[in-house]
Amino acid sequence: MKVIHNVSLKPYNSFGIDVRANKFIKIQTIDGLKKILRKTYAEELFILGGGSNMLLTGDISKTVLQIGLKGKQVLEEKEDYVIIKAHAGENWHEFVLWTLQQDFGGLENLSLIPGNVGTSPIQNIGAYGVELKDTFVSCEAINIQTLESKTFTLEDCEFDYRNSVFKNKLKGQYIITSVNFKLSTKNHQLKIDYGAIESELKGIENPSIRDVSDAVIRIRESKLPNPAEIGNSGSFFKNPIISTEAFVTLQKNFPEVPSYKISDTEVKIPAGWLIDQAGLKGYRDGDAGVHKKQALVLVNYGNASGSDILELSLKVREIVKEKFGVELEPEVNII
Ligand code: EPU
Repeated sequence: MKVIHNVSLKPYNSFGIDVRANKFIKIQTIDGLKKILRKTYAEELFILGGGSNMLLTGDISKTVLQIGLKGKQVLEEKEDYVIIKAHAGENWHEFVLWTLQQDFGGLENLSLIPGNVGTSPIQNIGAYGVELKDTFVSCEAINIQTLESKTFTLEDCEFDYRNSVFKNKLKGQYIITSVNFKLSTKNHQLKIDYGAIESELKGIENPSIRDVSDAVIRIRESKLPNPAEIGNSGSFFKNPIISTEAFVTLQKNFPEVPSYKISDTEVKIPAGWLIDQAGLKGYRDGDAGVHKKQALVLVNYGNASGSDILELSLKVREIVKEKFGVELEPEVNII
């Protein structure tokens, strides 16, 4: 296993932030991973997956482990479903395309989400009415301290909106090495009620999972910046969930506010709408900006530092709080 010193992490984070890692090791086997864990204290390690959900605000003095475990296989084949295992270092979108090629259904709405398979459970990735948890069966993870492997079931993961046990009480304690999914092989249940998908599929009589994926790709490409061209981490903020009472007050002042009922006591508001209405869509300060087509996404036009983006995010939070009284919470990990 090669240790590389003084490496720029620019190619390894989708925001394209140019910070340096003191030591960088690419992990390609579980044995290799265990070897490193045996000789390094957990607190000296920095685990890197696809680098698509983080904002790096400074050089990393810890040893960066890039989880490059590859491979995918069918574990079980039943009458109308399969269980698939995908290793943590597989690129998420390439994995989704592979499932579609085999005509396995369930992940089509999650097409084109940046990142790797291994980090997908951490924030329960989601888009267009589908979340990872809908097809998730289990994941394997290694405890960084004890080196023991553990299988986490759906229940163990405590999935919630952009959240899981790995972001909370088990934060930093496990490295996910593979994820198992249950995907349909016939009678695919399409989820196309999300407005934009339905209109994108207009004219197609019996849409296939491939058609749904193509529609999702077209919608994402029309609104979301491609990280290969403009650095970004997708949604920078979570959509805030507020109490029904707070919502009633908000709606009195802003009758057109979009909302999704979560429960009898809670309502979710699109952060993109709040930022847009605060006049910040397309706002730019140096190379840090609010995306022109989707205000929920902060972008790096080239040479913004992590602190530039962080500062912009604080400004956005302050302005939104002042205008609407709503607190925005970052969705990305700020490091
Ligand atoms: N809106 C605006 N202006 C904007 C952006 C949005 O007014 O600049 C309004 C839209 O008109 C719409 C509402 O806000 O009424 C919701 O917008 P959209 O459908 O684009 O979705 P979102 O809530 O902004 C969420 C996810 C995205 C996911 C889309 C589609 C979060 C934090 N974000 O965005 O996820 O792709 O729904 O399902 O939940 C990501 O996590 O990185 C991500 C891109």
